[in-house]
Amino acid sequence: MQPLSHIDREAWRFINSVSIVTVSVDGVVNAMSAEWCAPVSLKPPLIGVFIGEERFTRAFIERAQTFGVSLLAEEQAWIGRVCGRYSGREVDKLAEFNIPTEPAQYIDAPLIAGAAAQFECRVLDRRVYGSHMLVVGEPLRAIGNPDKQAIAYSRGRFYRLGEELPE
Ligand SMILES: Cc1cc2nc3c(=O)[nH]c(=O)nc-3n(C[C@H](O)[C@H](O)[C@H](O)COP(=O)(O)O)c2cc1C
Repeated sequence: MQPLSHIDREAWRFINSVSIVTVSVDGVVNAMSAEWCAPVSLKPPLIGVFIGEERFTRAFIERAQTFGVSLLAEEQAWIGRVCGRYSGREVDKLAEFNIPTEPAQYIDAPLIAGAAAQFECRVLDRRVYGSHMLVVGEPLRAIGNPDKQAIAYSRGRFYRLGEELPE
């Protein structure tokens, strides 16, 4: 297998949703944008998120027993930008950028208010694959908002969902 540096940039055409992963350790809360966050299993329901080794979130998720996943809605791309541009090492993102949050029921970290969907997860497993750690979580609570549309992210840009393709 060839390393990523030898992969044609044009091959990187993945389209992902945008989640905000929230983690709380010793009363400190951090929020990070994650496009690599996806379902892993339906029975039981499991969610996986990949956290890069340089992320402030990485040390948090290595210690935390729980984490939150909030799938951003159309008017929330700005939250994806700031939580993906700044590090919790330098700034308290939630406070500094007035990111709307609400308390969770089963986990310490808050969730993003007004999100398209929210998951409160218990850490089930962690495994390192190269630069990223896959953290698998079991949702203790999952809430979707039918009035909100989730957004997409591809090659550094945010999109709203377009037309459904005909069969
Ligand atoms: C839309 C978007 C999606 C991102 N997805 C991921 C991801 O899935 N995993 C990851 O490790 N970093 C991802 N990043 C980069 C981190 O969010 C970024 O490095 C962030 O500043 C890390 O914050 P932290 O240092 O407070 O943990 C993404 C960035 C953006 C803008």
